[in-house]
Amino acid sequence: MANAAADLPWKTVWITGASTGIGRELAVMLAARGVRVAATARNVAKLVDLAGQVPGIMPVPADVTNADEVAAAHARIMTAFGGIDLAILNAGVWDPMGASDFNAARVAATMAVNYAGLANAIEPLIPPMIAARRGHIALVASVAGYRGLPKGAAYAPSKAAAISLAEVLHGDLERHGVKVSVVNPGFVETPMTVVNEFPMPYLMKPDDAARRIIRGLQKGKFEIAFPWQMVAMLKLARVLPYPAYFWLVRNIIAPGGEPAAEKTRE
Ligand SMILES: NC(=O)c1ccc[n+]([C@@H]2O[C@H](COP(=O)([O-])OP(=O)(O)OC[C@H]3O[C@@H](n4cnc5c(N)ncnc54)[C@H](OP(=O)(O)O)[C@@H]3O)[C@@H](O)[C@H]2O)c1
Repeated sequence: MANAAADLPWKTVWITGASTGIGRELAVMLAARGVRVAATARNVAKLVDLAGQVPGIMPVPADVTNADEVAAAHARIMTAFGGIDLAILNAGVWDPMGASDFNAARVAATMAVNYAGLANAIEPLIPPMIAARRGHIALVASVAGYRGLPKGAAYAPSKAAAISLAEVLHGDLERHGVKVSVVNPGFVETPMTVVNEFPMPYLMKPDDAARRIIRGLQKGKFEIAFPWQMVAMLKLARVLPYPAYFWLVRNIIAPGGEPAAEKTRE
């Protein structure tokens, strides 16, 4: 176990959204391979439980929507680890919403986690990485960020913004020796998706997703997107002209429009 991280390019990793789902799997897998992992989320009990189960994981609770808490978490990790080789900014929320239950406060709440939450972590991460001329920042977005999809009124724009932010940062940081990646998963079986009542094509297990993310980051890829069937379909949808895309939504993706139950929801 002592030199188990020899096959990985990182000694220290910060993961947000590490209390459940994909983030938890990433923390467990990386720690098992000898990496020191700082695990951030709001649920302190779950982080402490995780750290108790897997040696090498340090719980660093924080709410990513609170810039001061995130900066303090970053400072704590820098002191404990001496540096952060890789940050996987994975904390996120999914609040299914369409036009019939559109709610501006819920849209803002989703943006606060899925987009501003990234920004709150990126701000303290950048200066020491530029100074060291090394480091890797991975933003977890979604294939749902490729194009506006049904029920995505709050979620899809937050993930489109995350993808756009990753593109901007990649362009600016590569000349400083700092890598940036964006992770775009399809459906993964986690507490986030357990609420979904609609069919989830090509649903994957979280350990499978975590393995693909680690492999992609290890290769230094900019975009890590999976499963390929979902990625191919949605990338094709992205290049379709609007009339063809809206035909697809109307007839294939959401035939009949929003479910009636959604239309009556308060
Ligand atoms: N599952 C999928 O199908 C899927 C597909 C595409 C993309 N993704 C993305 O993958 C990432 C992980 O999702 P998941 O499926 O693993 O979901 P999950 O099991 O619900 O995990 C979400 C994580 O984010 C944390 N979190 C939420 N709000 C937070 C906040 N304000 N501050 C700090 N941490 C917060 C949660 O911890 P606490 O509640 O303890 O704070 C939890 O650890 C998300 O960004 C999600 O959008 C998921």
